[in-house]
Amino acid sequence: MTDQLFLSTMQGIKSTQTPIWMMRQAGRYLAEYRAVRAKQTDFISFCLNPEQASAVTLQPIARYGFDAAIIFSDILMVPWAIKRNVQFKTGIGPLLDAMDKPDDIDRSCLRRLDEKLAPVGKALELTKTALQGKTALIGFAGAPWTLITYMAEGGSSRDFPKARQWAWQETKALEGLLSILVEATVSFLSLQAKAGADVLMLFDSWASAVPASQRDWLVVKPARSIVEGVRANGHRQPMIGFPRGIGEGLIQYAAESGVDSVGLDHGVDPVWAGKNLPAKMPVQGNLDPLSLLNAGPEMFRDIDHILDAFHDRPHIFNLGHGITPPTPVENVQKMIDHIRNR
Ligand code: CP3
Repeated sequence: MTDQLFLSTMQGIKSTQTPIWMMRQAGRYLAEYRAVRAKQTDFISFCLNPEQASAVTLQPIARYGFDAAIIFSDILMVPWAIKRNVQFKTGIGPLLDAMDKPDDIDRSCLRRLDEKLAPVGKALELTKTALQGKTALIGFAGAPWTLITYMAEGGSSRDFPKARQWAWQETKALEGLLSILVEATVSFLSLQAKAGADVLMLFDSWASAVPASQRDWLVVKPARSIVEGVRANGHRQPMIGFPRGIGEGLIQYAAESGVDSVGLDHGVDPVWAGKNLPAKMPVQGNLDPLSLLNAGPEMFRDIDHILDAFHDRPHIFNLGHGITPPTPVENVQKMIDHIRNR
């Protein structure tokens, strides 16, 4: 309930209580979110409206008393700021200008990035004030590889054929694109740190698509450069990396990316993670969000299994991916009550 629990856990301290928040906690499963959303003209302007973005960030805190708030924004704000013409279409998802080659863009796209993303900073400032130090505030960005999957295809895709082909055939140009996105991400996270984020999270949602032999340069090194860049800018906030779907690759990611904590998707066996990740590293996760649709005995069993697996390491309870729109709000409360009353 206080940011002390979440932040002390992020700093590696194990408490009797486990802090809780959920990825996509501000979103369509909440009627109060849908009410605000219905009044918005488009999703990007919504993210760039500090008052509205802050208001929906606070909704799940008011309803559930989560231990952390995550700023309402999107990983595609960086592609938007570097002029990829990002739009969100209802029923389709994100649409962007697709790229033919990784060197379709150059560093000039980085001009005025901070100015364009300043409203996200303003939203963090408003939220920070409203939280009164009682709840921790998380800022975030998408990792370069995941952004590239959207930028290459021009939207969501199932197998990311273009980005994956670039990884084999356009290595030099892709290096260039990665470095532009590393720079953009360092700026965006630094802006959020300056605006009052207590913790920063890096979403590599499609790290799962990277062949194991290419993980180092496409996933681990960019994360490391981002952590180093944020630190070089003087920001000390703990950082969480979420390289979704990389399985045993988490061992290298945890050891070499420089993040303070890793997020686990629900494909990771918590007992395996407990044994194989650095002993004092805080971990976050990893209940399957779909278990919340009916909140049956299997869900409670899984919650217990996760909490037991991490009983001797700092652990932040979360889902393995974002909560889905059809989730009944009362089932989220049941999950929270079960964790808090154990
Ligand atoms: O977690 C939170 O509550 C904070 C806000 C947040 C959003 N997106 C708001 C959002 C966060 C952390 C994200 C991250 C994000 N966005 C990721 C990484 C995490 C993940 O899910 O893997 C990705 C891949 C995106 C890109 C994105 N944004 C897609 C593909 C879509 C469309 C599909 C969908 O789920 O609707 C979005 C839109 C989006 N971002 C919504 C929200 C609440 C729904 C749009 C709406 O309300 O109309």
